[in-house]
Amino acid sequence: DFFDGSKKVLKNKKVIVTAGPTREKIDPVRYLTNHSSGKMGYAIAEEAASLGADVRLVSGPVSIDAPAGVQLIKVESAEEMYQAVLSQYDDADIVIKTAAVADYKPKKVYKHKVKKKSGEEYLELERTKDILFELGKRKNKQVLIGFAAETEKLDDYAIGKLEKKNADMIVANNVTAEGAGFGTDTNIVTLYKRNGSIDHLPLMSKHEVAAKILDAANRLLKDEQK
Ligand code: CTP
Ligand code: CA
Repeated sequence: DFFDGSKKVLKNKKVIVTAGPTREKIDPVRYLTNHSSGKMGYAIAEEAASLGADVRLVSGPVSIDAPAGVQLIKVESAEEMYQAVLSQYDDADIVIKTAAVADYKPKKVYKHKVKKKSGEEYLELERTKDILFELGKRKNKQVLIGFAAETEKLDDYAIGKLEKKNADMIVANNVTAEGAGFGTDTNIVTLYKRNGSIDHLPLMSKHEVAAKILDAANRLLKDEQK
C-alpha cells in the first residue's frame, strides 16, 4: 500500500471539529457574526482525516471548501451548533471546539426587516449557550479541547477557561499578534493542559498547528485509556 498504515494513529476514532463563526439572526436581512475564517478548524479536520479518524466537521458559514473525507454538518446559529455537536457527542473520542461562537444573540428575531426610526434602540441581546461548557459537564470518555482567542492576559484567561469548561486542553492565541488569528494562514498558539503543562509553539502554518494539536489530543486519549 502507498500509504503508511502505521501513521493512521486515529483509525477508528471519532473526532468532532467545530469551525467558523456563527450567525445570529436579527431580521430576514441582518445578523450578528465575527471574523472567523474557519481555516484553523478546517485544517484540523483535514489533518484528523489524514490520520484515519472518522471526522464530523460542524461548521458555521465560511467561504472555504470542506476537506475530502470529512463529514460536513453545516449550521448557522450557536443554538444549531449546540444541537449538532450534542447529537454527535456520546460516542466521540476527541472534540475540538475551534468555532468562534457568538456569545450573544438578539433577544427577539424580527419577522420583517426592521425600519430605521430616529433615536430608538431596537437591539436587545441575550447570552447564547456556552457549548464547550455544556460538553464539559457531559464529558464521559471524550478528550475535550477548546480554543481561546485573547488580546491580553493569555495565561490567566486560558487557564480560567480550561478549568471553568472542564476541558482537557485549551489552545490559546493572541489574536493581535503578527501572523496569528483571524483570516491568516499562520498561527502562534500556546497549549495549556490540565496537568499544568504550558507549551508555547512558534509561528507556524495552521496545518502545522493542526498536526501539533492532534498529536497532543492523541496522547491525551492514550493516557485516558490506561
Ligand atoms: N465557546 C462555546 N460556546 C460559546 C462560546 C464559546 O463553545 N457560546 C467555546 C469556543 O468554541 C472556544 C471556547 O469556548 O473553544 C472559548 O471561547 P472564547 O470566546 O475564547 O471564550 P468565552 O468562554 O466565550 O469567554 P470570552 O469570550 O468572554 O473570553
Ligand atoms: Ca466568546
